[in-house]
Amino acid sequence: MTSAVRRLAINTGGGDAPGLNAVIHGAVYAARGLGWQIFGIRDGYDGLLEPQNYPDGGLIELRRSTVRDISHVGGTILGTTNRGNPFCRPTKQPDGTMKEVDRSDELIERFRQNRLDALIAAGGDGSLSIAHQLHNKGLCVVGVPKTIDNDLESTTFTFGFSTAVEFATECIDRLHSTALSHQRVIVVEVMGRYAGWIALHSGLAGRADAILIPEIPYQIEKVAAHLCRKRREGKPYSIVVVAEGAKPLGGDVTVRSREVGRAERLGGIGETVAAELQNLTGKECRCVVLGHLLRGGSPTAIDRILGLTFGAAAVYALSKGMDGVMVAVNPPRIDFVPIQEAIAKLKLVPPDSEFVLVSRALDITFGDAG
Ligand code: F6P
Repeated sequence: MTSAVRRLAINTGGGDAPGLNAVIHGAVYAARGLGWQIFGIRDGYDGLLEPQNYPDGGLIELRRSTVRDISHVGGTILGTTNRGNPFCRPTKQPDGTMKEVDRSDELIERFRQNRLDALIAAGGDGSLSIAHQLHNKGLCVVGVPKTIDNDLESTTFTFGFSTAVEFATECIDRLHSTALSHQRVIVVEVMGRYAGWIALHSGLAGRADAILIPEIPYQIEKVAAHLCRKRREGKPYSIVVVAEGAKPLGGDVTVRSREVGRAERLGGIGETVAAELQNLTGKECRCVVLGHLLRGGSPTAIDRILGLTFGAAAVYALSKGMDGVMVAVNPPRIDFVPIQEAIAKLKLVPPDSEFVLVSRALDITFGDAG
């Protein structure tokens, strides 16, 4: 099938992830190579919906020279927002209260007015759900899987995950020596939302004593007993990696805040776990929350390669007439899967996955009976 695309847009809505600029670089080089024009939308969809707020008009023409030196830089040159869902945009009412308003028709009209034939949407499950809804309204869309959480179905890896795991591992490595010096328990809370991929991979790489993930509800007594047994056997300090979405058996996730127009913010479970372990083990405990540090910094080589590949592959998909698909990487293949499939459910850690089994073999507990 030949493509009718001549002018396309790219946006980077939702939480940023290292590798976004590499996606932009890859898409721009590939699109310009086909003689297409490509434009970056500022701050998710804000650049199209509120152009008056931008000195540059909210829509920037991207040339190879614009993006030549960005693929190794963290963040996104286009900016982003977590509050820009065009289907339920938080909008201030005359009485000062906030209300969610559907501005999707207006957005589709802006694409038409700007003669944009297609959109490359770099997003996690939230941003890709929006892209899918826009596709259902007639917009030609190709998605690329962005999130440090690695929780998107149909792709083995999302970009951003590798960088987050590398940095979390480096932090855990650094904590070993101070934990040993003080013979403390150090609890490290990492992001990941409802999935435990970052905790599992960094905990394994960083040789933690316990890894607590949402997919395997923990019993704090079992974690404490495990740490005490390892102390008796000669290891005088402990490292516990906790996913922000971890929850006790029969309990729920710890929510930091809820706001109109955005997903609930998780966080705080690390402090709870540290306090309970101090109580149960009698050992001094400290909690370190890595938070947004995992989203910052220069992308790893893997995330650069993924980003560049996803950007170029998204243009390839459009050139072949594909629509409503997400680029996926399932080594050694690059696949094009329906966005609908990728967002149907979160990709969670299978409790019997190889990495969980390997961790158990290395005397790492998940705080369960296993
Ligand atoms: O989805 C990526 C992520 O970093 C999650 O791991 C985390 O829960 C969330 O975004 C934080 O979002 P915000 O930047 O809005 O605090």
